[in-house]
Amino acid sequence: MHDGSCNQSVEQGVWLSDSEVWRRLARFYQDEGPNAWHARIPYHVTSNPHIAAGYVDLIQAFLDDWIVAHGAIDGTVHVVELGSGHGVFTGHMLQALAEAEEDFNAIGVRVHYIASDLAQSNVAGWQQNPVLSAALDAGWASFARFDCLADADPSMLFGAQDWPSGAGAAPCIFIANYLFDTLPQDIFLLREDETLRATVRFGQAGNSDTLDPERFELSFDFRPYVDSDLPPAVSRRVADYRQAGLRGHVVVPTGALACVERLRMLSDDRMLLVCSDKALSTEHALRERSLIEVGSFVSASMLVNMHAIGRHVEEQGGVSLLQSTQQSTLATAAWLIGLSRPQSRRSARTFARQLDAASPGDVYGLVNAMLPHRFNMDVAALLSLLKLTDWDAAVFEGMYDALLSRLGEAMPAVSADLLAALPRIASNRNRLPGAPDTLFRIAHLCQHLQRWDEAATLYQHSMAERGESAEAHYNLALCHLGAGDAAKARDAFERAAALNPDMLMAQGWLHRLEAGCSRPA
Ligand SMILES: C[S@@+](CC[C@H](N)C(=O)[O-])C[C@H]1O[C@@H](n2cnc3c(N)ncnc32)[C@H](O)[C@@H]1O
Repeated sequence: MHDGSCNQSVEQGVWLSDSEVWRRLARFYQDEGPNAWHARIPYHVTSNPHIAAGYVDLIQAFLDDWIVAHGAIDGTVHVVELGSGHGVFTGHMLQALAEAEEDFNAIGVRVHYIASDLAQSNVAGWQQNPVLSAALDAGWASFARFDCLADADPSMLFGAQDWPSGAGAAPCIFIANYLFDTLPQDIFLLREDETLRATVRFGQAGNSDTLDPERFELSFDFRPYVDSDLPPAVSRRVADYRQAGLRGHVVVPTGALACVERLRMLSDDRMLLVCSDKALSTEHALRERSLIEVGSFVSASMLVNMHAIGRHVEEQGGVSLLQSTQQSTLATAAWLIGLSRPQSRRSARTFARQLDAASPGDVYGLVNAMLPHRFNMDVAALLSLLKLTDWDAAVFEGMYDALLSRLGEAMPAVSADLLAALPRIASNRNRLPGAPDTLFRIAHLCQHLQRWDEAATLYQHSMAERGESAEAHYNLALCHLGAGDAAKARDAFERAAALNPDMLMAQGWLHRLEAGCSRPA
């Protein structure tokens, strides 16, 4: 939270949810834009192909349930992503939705995707992502600046069209990954004879109005409060927890509850909200939490109490689907409004299979536990791990060195499986500036497998995306040699040597070609 240097006091004695800390955190995202994620704020576990596939399956199941309960859907179903940030998850969702297009067509549904964020700097950044801009140009996606706590005008998200209501009106899908943990929260201390509410002392180095996520100090004092000052949704949760015998520190997601109310209004009580966050999802996870656990800001976020959101949704007649275990800090939840529990059977089954049993927290917990042992795994086992993540390019990057070193021992059928999966991994590559050059590494694997033409094409694609490099031209030249095209190889060695005159291997090859030798070493 801070590095021990002396912080200036910014405020003292303010209720946590009213604190300046949240406004500064929002300003941090606005000021930093896409830079916020350059090796600072983690995002991989909520922004990968596996989570996108699970969400699309759930959306399909929800729409099936909706049609059975309410009849055919008239018009477009909007999928609104809140707090899209870097847009990496948006890219995976657009790909997964495009793959499911025929299934949506079969139930008479057209989908429109809306990526949104509080920070205009993020909205501007999405134009640079080719997957996002292609969907925008094709007319089935749009981008919006939208503050989920302050904006109430549906036209900011949906454009000028009339928001449909009545029979056949489409439900709305909302997605909120790693959003609620950045919105205002409150902490209560439940004792046998009293309930107290947290006020904060907040200090930060320097004069900046923006939160420096690594250098600030937050500590709490607990005070009596007047219950009628609390938003009713918060007050009811505290009363519920007291009655259920919960004691100790309980965090209540004041901002997220306000956001859910706003989404209910926007959707006219016809919605599915899906969310993965740093969160507590089970009631047993809420019990006996220390203040350090519930009140710590790590990576600019605070644990979210999803259980409280679930209770709130149920109170409004909706359905709450929560991840059933709490072994990792990431939890996934889905909340449905407009369907009863008996009407949401397919959604519940899909959630249980795709987003609870194979929750992003579980799958990526497993992947992160296995990757340090990758050199003890053969290519078949590495492929299984990769397949479990729906061919996540970031996981491929994490095991690339082991794949390469063990490729020679792989059975031909296993190498063929790997080759077949490479286009999928390539299409899942991260397009954020500064992300690893996955196309280059896939090209290198193909080169090791002596798939000269595929490798050459991939080196060219890599350079088209990332710019020329001596390494790519050098390897491209080796592929041309492998394919028996000495003239193309010479051109590529010459380009490598021109880009890096110190590249002695390129010079050496040029001499060998001059002398008439064109066999790869
Ligand atoms: C931790 S990032 C999450 C980014 C991405 N969804 C992910 O899973 O990595 C939080 C994002 O929420 C945005 N945000 C913060 N407060 C918001 C608000 N009130 N309304 C909409 N977006 C907000 C921030 O600008 C930031 O992009």
